[in-house]
Amino acid sequence: MNKQEIYRFTKEWVYEAGVILRESVTMDLEVEYKTSAADLVTEKDKEIEMFFVKKINATFPNHYILGEEDTASDQKDYNPQNEVVWLVDPIDGTTNFVHQKRNFCISVGVYDNGKPVVGVIYDPISDEMFHALAGEGVYLNDQRMKLPSKVTTYEQALISMNHLWLAPNDFLCEQPIQQMATDIRGFRYIGSAALELAYVSVGRLDGAIFAGLGSWDFGAGYILLQEQGLSVTTLAGDGIDFFKPSSLLTSSKELHQVVQSNYIRLK
Ligand code: IPD
Ligand code: CA
Ligand code: CA
Ligand code: CA
Repeated sequence: MNKQEIYRFTKEWVYEAGVILRESVTMDLEVEYKTSAADLVTEKDKEIEMFFVKKINATFPNHYILGEEDTASDQKDYNPQNEVVWLVDPIDGTTNFVHQKRNFCISVGVYDNGKPVVGVIYDPISDEMFHALAGEGVYLNDQRMKLPSKVTTYEQALISMNHLWLAPNDFLCEQPIQQMATDIRGFRYIGSAALELAYVSVGRLDGAIFAGLGSWDFGAGYILLQEQGLSVTTLAGDGIDFFKPSSLLTSSKELHQVVQSNYIRLK
């Protein structure tokens, strides 16, 4: 497998898909509910995923695709640990896409035999592409990004968490979440997990805590975070299984330790 070639194609296709999305924000969208009124899908989610399926199938016919909208549904029986797999979220932040016309992105991660190879996250409205080829560092557009300084204490940290933590859940008890809110410098919730992971990878956020992400949500982000030497685990502190739904906690090693030991109470 030529990793450089995959990297180049991924960036090219993600950019092309971004242009389609940028042009579509002024159009009337067909919005449907998936599981509930809080779980939206538009014809653009499906169109963009199909765009990737066609490009990948035509260029790399032996590769597999795991996309949120399940467009490559004929590819069910394979072991992702033995194949090249593309994790594709055609629009991450569909609710933002529909309501705000901003704060959404395209996220594509490529894994070879279970190992991260390429991660590309593109926000077409701000024209920011966060990307990495494993081992070669994180770039924002053409600029190599070093983490300014890793935040190691909770008092200095700006952490991304979503509103679902306020609802009953299996990971945090009520007291830890209140304690976190008291101790921390600030919470942010953008509404696009992939974009939030990209922001952590360039130091705009110091960490992120998510439950119930799909592979397509973290596939690209994981690679960016790993490249910057940040810790990325499940909330229980285990390694992430890239091909299964997962919780995710990422930050500097020191902060990760603080969050794990002081705030996470797995029920
Ligand atoms: C969702 C967004 C959201 C996160 C959800 C994801 P979607 O992805 O990333 O911020 O909290 O867990 O499912 O449905 O907009 O692609
Ligand atoms: Ca969705
Ligand atoms: Ca998503
Ligand atoms: Ca999506």
